[in-house]
Amino acid sequence: MKVLILGSGGREHALAWAVRRSPRVTEVVCAPGNGGIAQVARCVPADLKDLDAMVRLVEAEQPDLTLVGPELPLSLGIVDALQERGLRVFGPTREAAMLETSKAFAKQFMKRHKIPTANYAVCASAAELEKVIDHFHAPIVVKADGLAAGKGVLICDSRNTALEAAQGLFSGALLGTVEQQVVIEEFLQGEEVSFLCLSDGTHVTPLVPAQDHKRIGEGDTGPNTGGMGVYSTDQILEPGMTDWILRHIAEPTVRGMAEEGTPFVGVLYIGLMMTARGPEVLEYNARFGDPETQAILLRLESDLVDAVNACIDGCLDQVELRWSPGAAACVVASSSGYPGSYKTGFPITGLKAAARVPGVQVFHSGTSLLAEDIVTSGGRVLAVTAAGESLQQALALAYQAMGEIKFDGIYFRRDIGHRALSRKS
Ligand code: AMP
Ligand code: GLY
Repeated sequence: MKVLILGSGGREHALAWAVRRSPRVTEVVCAPGNGGIAQVARCVPADLKDLDAMVRLVEAEQPDLTLVGPELPLSLGIVDALQERGLRVFGPTREAAMLETSKAFAKQFMKRHKIPTANYAVCASAAELEKVIDHFHAPIVVKADGLAAGKGVLICDSRNTALEAAQGLFSGALLGTVEQQVVIEEFLQGEEVSFLCLSDGTHVTPLVPAQDHKRIGEGDTGPNTGGMGVYSTDQILEPGMTDWILRHIAEPTVRGMAEEGTPFVGVLYIGLMMTARGPEVLEYNARFGDPETQAILLRLESDLVDAVNACIDGCLDQVELRWSPGAAACVVASSSGYPGSYKTGFPITGLKAAARVPGVQVFHSGTSLLAEDIVTSGGRVLAVTAAGESLQQALALAYQAMGEIKFDGIYFRRDIGHRALSRKS
């Protein structure tokens, strides 16, 4: 079968790599892909902002299955448009993806279905926000309603900075887009866990848990990024916790979406804060995480295509996922300046030597192929990922591979997995 993947990052490279391992798959196409993906798939140009062009592309390619990587095409309704044309696609419809695309919708949905999350208020103006702000203690979290590529969450240390942040979101001064709604919520403390599940609209199957490192600096300092590294071990969650999260969060979410007439089929990514009160939902994403997917798929022993097909066909309860029991770790190499402005076009060396380190897969996040050279083309450039019997081993292999790679301005965090490692000692 022929599989088409929409997207261009490390997540899509990992998806292409995993899909190609399926004995059923004979061809993988990625739109638009990147320099690394071009080594495992045929890349075709695509503009992920242009729904009609994407639909025309999929109609022309006629794949047996389309996987949607990023949130933007989901928010535009790519799944609805392909389904209407009888094309097989994996991902939530535009309405189901609102769990990610509208934070106000997500919070109100969680309240309706008694799913644990931070106390909040949804406000339609700065004046409305001023009326409720005294119910919140600093630090106060202020969030844009819509998609903001990680820039829409502001943690404010006083009432006044929270009001200013809200004004900036409503006026468009902060994000460049004028928000119609802003969420204000209680600040939660604890460790974050990325809990991803597959859903066929009725049944839920968890993937292995992961912990992302969102800040640019070591020791979790500095501005938020798309994710600078991640690891996955079963020990991220205490025994029994997976079942608790399934029963109190994941299953009620999928049941609630079905009851409301918008069944959720796809990857439900639940961003959790493990608070003293128990796990609470920080956010939902309606897709695979990046870089979580890179680490999680390295531990997947089952056929990803079978699992995806079972979701589309509503029979996920008949699939059991097998995982390697050890660990996987992913370290992201970024361009100097990221998450602010950065330069691109620098040649990357050492990729072959890095790929020879046992257990390592070098997934490309922002690269392109220029003549014979792989050059940098994004903020996050590479996701160097390794599997090992233990977290220490996986990290050592990922860092050994990273040591082989050079490009002008390369930056990576040297402390991925630090929380788990310090717990062990
Ligand atoms: P979100 O896009 O809602 O996940 O927010 C991005 C990041 O902001 C999260 O991964 C957290 O690190 C942080 N964050 C969001 N909401 C809260 C909250 N209520 N309390 C503390 N941190 C938060
Ligand atoms: N790693 C965070 C995300 O994919 O949203």
